[in-house]
Amino acid sequence: PVEERVKDLMSRMTLEDKVYQMCQYVGLEHMKSAESELSPEELEKNDAKGFYPGLRPSDIARLATEGKIGSFLHVVTAEEANQLQKLAQQSPLKIPLLIGIDAIHGNGLVSGSTIYPSPISQAATFADDLIKEGSKQTALEMRANGMHWSFTPNIDVLRDPRWGRTGETYGEDPYLVGNMGIATILGMQSDNFTGNDHVIACAKHLIAGSSSVNGLNAAPTDVSLRTLYEIFLPPYRRAVKEANVFSIMAAHNEVGGVPGHMDKSMMTDLLRSRWNFNGFYVSDWNDVSRIDIWHHVAKDFKQSIEFSVNAGMDMNMHGPKFDKLLIELVKEGKVNEERVNYACRKILEAKFRMGLFENPFVDIKTASKVNFAEAHQKNALEQARRAIVLQTNPKNILPLSTNGNGKTIFITGPNANNQTTLGDWVSPQPDKNIVTMVQGITKIGTESGYQVNYFDSGDRSKEITDDKIDLAAQKAATADITVLVLGENSFRHDWSRKTTGENIDRATLKLSGNQLKLANKIMDLGKPVIVVYVSGSPIAEPELQQRAAAVLNTWETGAFAGQATAEILFGKINPSGKLPLTIPRSVGQLQMVYNYKPTAFIHKYNSESKLPLHPFGFGLSYTTFSVSAPKLSKNDFSAKDDVISVSVEVSNTGKMDGEEVVQMYVRDDISSFTRPVKELKGYKRVALKAGETKTVTLDIKAESLAMYDRDYNFVVEEGSFTIMVGNSSEDKNLKKATLNVSNTITLEKST
Ligand code: IFM
Repeated sequence: PVEERVKDLMSRMTLEDKVYQMCQYVGLEHMKSAESELSPEELEKNDAKGFYPGLRPSDIARLATEGKIGSFLHVVTAEEANQLQKLAQQSPLKIPLLIGIDAIHGNGLVSGSTIYPSPISQAATFADDLIKEGSKQTALEMRANGMHWSFTPNIDVLRDPRWGRTGETYGEDPYLVGNMGIATILGMQSDNFTGNDHVIACAKHLIAGSSSVNGLNAAPTDVSLRTLYEIFLPPYRRAVKEANVFSIMAAHNEVGGVPGHMDKSMMTDLLRSRWNFNGFYVSDWNDVSRIDIWHHVAKDFKQSIEFSVNAGMDMNMHGPKFDKLLIELVKEGKVNEERVNYACRKILEAKFRMGLFENPFVDIKTASKVNFAEAHQKNALEQARRAIVLQTNPKNILPLSTNGNGKTIFITGPNANNQTTLGDWVSPQPDKNIVTMVQGITKIGTESGYQVNYFDSGDRSKEITDDKIDLAAQKAATADITVLVLGENSFRHDWSRKTTGENIDRATLKLSGNQLKLANKIMDLGKPVIVVYVSGSPIAEPELQQRAAAVLNTWETGAFAGQATAEILFGKINPSGKLPLTIPRSVGQLQMVYNYKPTAFIHKYNSESKLPLHPFGFGLSYTTFSVSAPKLSKNDFSAKDDVISVSVEVSNTGKMDGEEVVQMYVRDDISSFTRPVKELKGYKRVALKAGETKTVTLDIKAESLAMYDRDYNFVVEEGSFTIMVGNSSEDKNLKKATLNVSNTITLEKST
């Protein structure tokens, strides 16, 4: 058994050897390419900033050969993975390396991988099984390339869409975020990641960086303990308890004055002791050193390590001196050796489970067969088809007729013909693997008898010049329909063009650069304009939306974004994506979420509606659906393991086959602490032919009703609950029933 093998190996390891397992470094190629792009002065500046602090590729190769590295990150080819493992095999103990990578939606940093829709797009599918299957496939691609650990899922609950990493999240709702996180973890880890097909997942970032002040990445978060428990922590509790996630990454930010990387109350007291987290913690990039450099609550790096490891940190992501200083701290009695033993034990456990001691290498030929395998492409396309949200279609211009009769479609806009559809954490991919918007629309448009023309309007502010705007308008004037592909850009290809993504936050939710100017000039022609958004972040442009003939929000739907979008535009697929976040009308409305507390909207703004542009859970279809009032299997909930079935009849009342996402919300009517006006607690995607009716059943369990009491016990309080079912979070779409809880039930005691 693995435990025995770990014990045996550790009995032959010195304190130093064990500490080395806790050290992670960035891959050689990554460092070399960064280094080759920089002058010696820039390198020194980077050293000072802590980017590649005092390390050169040759140092890292030596450390690997000496057995002083436990893990690498950002190794991007199977060849490099093998090369590094070969170095580790020259070390005295020959311990294989654990190789981690940000395989966020596919193994995107590796060229030639399958690029699935980004997390926000995945959440819009409300299709957990599809996401689980895609994550399983990503794990296969990773293992074929020598990678064992993905820094995903990001289960930060999004409360401020100015945060540049919005597209990496599963949106604003703790339950949906939890479900998507669990689907990803189970897909990647399977039961316990034994064998050659699975990888370790990593829930990140503990905690609440998605609600930092001003929406800026890594800025402080100032939320109450109650909000932490109610909004940000539930996905972690479930990732640990329901999916046994094996690693968790700490957050850059502080909460209430405590930097995430030294928050013992979260890492150890809550997650490890109370919720039995059985894996290991990894730091974010250089973040242990930032306890002193950024946060100023330690006097130097050594003290930062002391605070972090004592709080529960098990692995340091990148950087020198961690090993030397931690060894000193243990010898000085400032860090208990048991902390080091725990960390080493867990890291070795992972390596044994994945069979790395038997064979740390991969067969290069297998990698090229598994990457972008047919079944993976199919899943990526199915996800994309379900992720796209139809936001407006007032006069039913969509779907476009498949009998074009020689009419012309004109396409333009900065996201029309490039890889921005791939989203963040993706390196440039071979063009042959990607269907751009122009390619997808041209193919189906031409097959349907249209003439399709494209004009490159240039990229946002830099290139959408007045001349180009005039030219685009001239072309639009001669076309019957214009498709404007607008939005933001989080694709890593060219950092200078990014308008959102990690460390690129948004001060406004309006379209960046000259896009609005381009759109208005074309709309002034008075001809139909279909707006297609490509963006991981919401776009708040109410006036533009009003003028558009239709608005299709395609998020960042990956390799097949162009195909899925075109299929929807021409009605080959009926849109069925639902918003995983509220789209505000303006940035001034933030924080704008559907699960607000009762007094949030008692008063009004002087110059803005208090309604959002679109509510959470909203998304149109080309058909219409009706959902009946919910029927409960019984009206009293009385024991911990009670399950109440909530059934509704869902009918497709229109003329086209389609899929609908039935959503169930719960409100605790009277509670000892204020509770949200509604909270999502169940959903089901259902396919219905035109005219068809099906019964959909959703379950209410104790956890669907639970809250934290004064002492932070997890309880279901006695009293009545309103159960609401419909097809969006908007009240007018919800039908209600009442459920009674006869006595308070304790599900989990605070320790
Ligand atoms: O996994 C990421 C994290 O989300 C942000 N900082 C860098 C890490 C490794 O790439």
